[in-house]
Amino acid sequence: SRQLLKSISSSARLFSNHRTQNQTRGYKVAVLGAAGGIGQPCGLLMKMNPLVTELRLYDIAGTPGVAADVSHINTKAQVKGYSQADDGEDGLKNALKDCDLVIIPAGVPRKPGMTRDDLFKINAGIVKGLVEACAENCPKAMLNIISNPVNSTVPIAAETLKQKGVYDKKKLFGVTTLDVVRAKTFYAEKKGLETAKVDVPVIGGHAGVTILPLFSQATPKAALTDDEIDALTKRTQDGGTEVVAAKAGKGSATLSMAYAGALFGDACLRAKNGEAGVVECTYVESDVVPGVEFFATKVSLGREGVEKIHGTGALTAYEQAGLDGMMSELKDSIQKGLDFAKGA
Ligand code: NAI
Repeated sequence: SRQLLKSISSSARLFSNHRTQNQTRGYKVAVLGAAGGIGQPCGLLMKMNPLVTELRLYDIAGTPGVAADVSHINTKAQVKGYSQADDGEDGLKNALKDCDLVIIPAGVPRKPGMTRDDLFKINAGIVKGLVEACAENCPKAMLNIISNPVNSTVPIAAETLKQKGVYDKKKLFGVTTLDVVRAKTFYAEKKGLETAKVDVPVIGGHAGVTILPLFSQATPKAALTDDEIDALTKRTQDGGTEVVAAKAGKGSATLSMAYAGALFGDACLRAKNGEAGVVECTYVESDVVPGVEFFATKVSLGREGVEKIHGTGALTAYEQAGLDGMMSELKDSIQKGLDFAKGA
């Protein structure tokens, strides 16, 4: 677990020394869907983040127990639980009031045989409702959207914030970090590299073929045959489905997702805190690829959120074919989200 903590904090200095702590501001962070499979471990990991002073855990029900439990951990963040069941409408309001960062893993996960898009019917409305509440109670917060289908829920969130007159494209992020985490793990395993030192950018979106790992840009460099690249690409794209199948009806990735969500949340907080050079792959409003309004590439994060969206970098013919091949699905998923939010 020491190793886990070390890697969560790679540059986050999870157990920072006094000097660092004194220099940092503290932030209010809410997790919505905090009693769920992702929400619980994600809350746990955020409790360990030294940049968090207040951790608000919200769900429809069950959060008082989760919050009481997490609150006993001897780190500085103050933990409070809020739920619809216990606090009615005020629960969500109070959980969000003046938050700096809101992490949203609320909604149903996949079962075997389902695509992420099959979740749209239920999760689209959940995300819309939660983002409306964010617009009303913490309009300046950075929003990290984990709820699937991310390719559509981020456009839903953007449109909802626009309707509320508070949209800031620099502060809305689709969390694709798990795809990056998977690509790194699979690449390191395949090539016998030290996992913690590996980097692999992943671009596009967060579903099937829209997930495009760029092994040509992986570091450290290792020779890969075409077959190896194809196998690693497919395994990254199907990583979620691998977990769904293994859990056999009991849900999708929760622990690795909580880790990835905590990593990305930490990156947002470090950037907000003024740390330079924070770069993560994330799905944001972007004009990097003509024809799609939202796209994941490497993004530099700063105090106000997105500071610079990086391009895709040079693509191999295989990667270019992957990019071309995802366009119609990504476009459709974005449009579906926008239409839903517009009530069309
Ligand atoms: P879960 O079912 O274990 O937990 C979801 C939680 O959301 C439940 O506790 C539920 O009560 C809560 N919830 C539902 N509606 C809510 C509302 N209106 N307000 C507050 N809370 C609400 O599901 P799990 O496994 O935690 O997955 C959550 C979501 O994350 C799913 O949509 C899943 O597809 C997505 N996911 C995304 C990944 C990514 O890479 N972005 C990876 C894995 C899962």
